[in-house]
Amino acid sequence: MTGLKERIAAELEAGRARSLAYTDVDDEVLVRRHSQFMSPLVWDLAHVGNYEELWVLREVGGLTPLRPEIDAMYDAFTHSRRERHALPLLRPAEARRYISGVRGRVLDVLDAADLGDPDPLRSGGFVFGLVLQHEHQHDETMLATLQLSGEPGLVGDGPLPPGRNAFPAEVLVPAGPFTAGAGTLPWAYDNERPEHRVDLPAYWIDRYPVTNGAYAEFIEDGGYTDPRWWSPRGWSWRDQRGILAPLFWTRDAGTWWRTRFGRTEPVPPDEPVQHVSWYEADAYARWTGRRLPTEAEWEKACGWNPHAGRAGAYPWGDAEPGPEHANLGHRASRPAPVGAFPAGASPCGAEQMIGDVWEWTGSWFLPYPGFRSFPYSEYSEVFFGATYRVLRGGSWATHPLAVRTTFRNWDHPHRRQIFAGFRCARAATPEEA
Ligand code: AVJ
Ligand code: FE
Repeated sequence: MTGLKERIAAELEAGRARSLAYTDVDDEVLVRRHSQFMSPLVWDLAHVGNYEELWVLREVGGLTPLRPEIDAMYDAFTHSRRERHALPLLRPAEARRYISGVRGRVLDVLDAADLGDPDPLRSGGFVFGLVLQHEHQHDETMLATLQLSGEPGLVGDGPLPPGRNAFPAEVLVPAGPFTAGAGTLPWAYDNERPEHRVDLPAYWIDRYPVTNGAYAEFIEDGGYTDPRWWSPRGWSWRDQRGILAPLFWTRDAGTWWRTRFGRTEPVPPDEPVQHVSWYEADAYARWTGRRLPTEAEWEKACGWNPHAGRAGAYPWGDAEPGPEHANLGHRASRPAPVGAFPAGASPCGAEQMIGDVWEWTGSWFLPYPGFRSFPYSEYSEVFFGATYRVLRGGSWATHPLAVRTTFRNWDHPHRRQIFAGFRCARAATPEEA
């Protein structure tokens, strides 16, 4: 288990470096409420440490609370995002001291832990996977807050591979059963379990996520002002807000521009569209005569290998994501153009299923048959129902540890500030299947 402990320690350090980099800004920027829909950055920072204290130090380490008086402030269910800025939050310097104090003790607990213990929090280092994924999820949320804030110069761009045009534009997934959900992956969440068989008829799914260029054609065609394409709820959402384009897009002199981390630039036509709500994705799909894939269709197209009779952890297999596979982990502050990752193709030929943009699916966030909450119901269980839509595949901002074929994300259908786009699907006719 030594190798695993070393890996966990290195990932903990890298995750923390990421959180500290995103919060290496003026105190005023950290404590400000940039949007009523997001926490102040300094809340996310201390919350990450408080979560680590709760799960690693108290539950596994058996330690007593370091600062019991702050726990309620950092419980996501006690105060809504809109009111967190008004709490007597730890000031930035104090928050950094608190999370670093927690982290020192976490490394001691890791050192002493028996990761071969059958206890489900300890086994395979589960609790460390839990806090690692949690920190990276909040790091992505902090990026969304920074994007909303319009603060300039916070985020740089690394190089990405060029796009390419590959045909056909849709790939066929043959009819048949597949195994959905996570079986043996040690750090999968409760909502990914248990594994179960799903039998699907044949369907077509887009090879790539829908691009900005394709989406702009929907706008040009009057898609935003034609209720034919919209669900009743989607139409009233759009109509009441006067929404006519993705979030952060503006029109000037016949060109679409977008504002990205404080810079305004022409919208690149070959990149997957992002910052669209589920309602917009659903309307676009109907405009093309298609629909969003169900969650099961998305997962089968992402991972199922019919020759092996099993799904890979990723579209390309079980190898950990490399730069040739996917745009993950904030190597650039944008999605890569479509066609950039031929080596990341799935067995059915779908590309960019992992990374670039979260993909809206047509499914509500519901438990799999036989679901059991672990280690706490407020991670997944309290969100199940016809309220949240499932997103899959991770974005350019998602860390590789926090996404896989079976990973399930969810959000309100009106949410736009997350790094979400989509691809379309349709049933195959009996002759094609
Ligand atoms: C899985 C992204 C929906 O950020 O609301 C963070 C993850 N849970 N802290 C969220 C989460 C507790 C969650 N999502
Ligand atoms: Fe959290």
